[in-house]
Amino acid sequence: MSSHITSPTWDTFFAERTKWIKSSIIRELLKFTQQPEVISFAGGLPAPELFPIEAIKKASVELLEKEGQKMLQYGPTEGYPLLNEQISIYMKKMGVSCSVQEILPTSGSQQALDLVGKIFINEGDTIFVSKPTYLGALQAFNSYGPKYVGSLMDDDGLIPEEVEKVLMLHKPKFMYVISTFHNPAGVTMPEDRRKKLVELAEKYDTFIIEDDPYSRLRFEGNEIPPIAAYSRERVIYLGTFSKVLAPGFRLGWIVAPKEVIAKLVQAKQGTDLHTSTYVQYLAAKLCAQDLIETHLDKIKSVYRQRRNLMLDSMDKYFPKVGFHWTKPQGGLFLWVIMPEKIDSVKLLEKAVENKVAFVPGNAFYPDPDEGRNTMRLNFSNMKEELIVEGIRRLGELLKREA
Ligand SMILES: Cc1ncc(COP(=O)(O)O)c(C=O)c1O
Repeated sequence: MSSHITSPTWDTFFAERTKWIKSSIIRELLKFTQQPEVISFAGGLPAPELFPIEAIKKASVELLEKEGQKMLQYGPTEGYPLLNEQISIYMKKMGVSCSVQEILPTSGSQQALDLVGKIFINEGDTIFVSKPTYLGALQAFNSYGPKYVGSLMDDDGLIPEEVEKVLMLHKPKFMYVISTFHNPAGVTMPEDRRKKLVELAEKYDTFIIEDDPYSRLRFEGNEIPPIAAYSRERVIYLGTFSKVLAPGFRLGWIVAPKEVIAKLVQAKQGTDLHTSTYVQYLAAKLCAQDLIETHLDKIKSVYRQRRNLMLDSMDKYFPKVGFHWTKPQGGLFLWVIMPEKIDSVKLLEKAVENKVAFVPGNAFYPDPDEGRNTMRLNFSNMKEELIVEGIRRLGELLKREA
């Protein structure tokens, strides 16, 4: 490089929209939680020791031998037809009927969130979210400059009467909803509330983006069909293999009316042409072998045990007065509401000193001044003995703060 060439001031070149993409103090803080000696309830990671590595290895070798040339080639944006077929079967099991043309494989449901933002959000549009909501959805939508409105939840998720007040007042373009084993709150909407939400979408001429990574991870209670089972017309459904197989696949899907899929396909072409052909072939084969169902049986029993242990340990070590926590029947997370005077961001700093970590709840609100007395705990990723010890450490800290 010649010495007279200087670096540009990159800030002056960044697009306007990058001002909406904020780095979060919490993400910075959470870096400390990755030290090996920290017991972390912060991530949303599946248990890596349970990944079905042998089955994936065997299927990969067989596929490469038989179909290597095709699975390493470019493919159609609309998806590898055999995968779309398997996803359609999988959706049918959950009570949602959709044709292969109404399915678009994506690079994880995170990409689905971005694509949905890309095709629907104009700068200044109003979007409805639950409070709290999934942090990654806010990050995906933020690049498109929306305004957020929302309503609080109870132990059964969104409360239709409260949602209606917001819809009436703000007429949002769409509602972003995590119906089952909510991230971060762990709560699930019962059937009557799901039906009511569809009615509201119809009444206020809006639609629902249903994000559903967790519903197959049910440890107890009866299965409840996704909202998409009650309306295909006003619901765009997002699914993913991340929690039922492995997040490293980066494979998810969208179920939507054909008109919407066509627009999503165009948007996706500009982003990545198509989802990894290799991964689509592999997932299609694993689904055809019913691997997901057998794998689910295995992980659900471990996660159930870990959730029970976390709840039992919380009963034992957490203070009770002014505290409330959700008792999820599945998924990966539970949510703690603490007395107002406890600030969970400050609490995390102290927790990290005590080698235990969680995510402060305000990270899950569009306005980070909300939810400061809340936190999210993950129960899937830490081994049993670490769950007990981590909750004991957190309990000690909370007793000092409460
Ligand atoms: C509610 C929700 N939506 C989407 C995602 C993203 O998942 P994926 O790995 O499919 O991109 C997650 C991941 O934790 C999530 O909790």
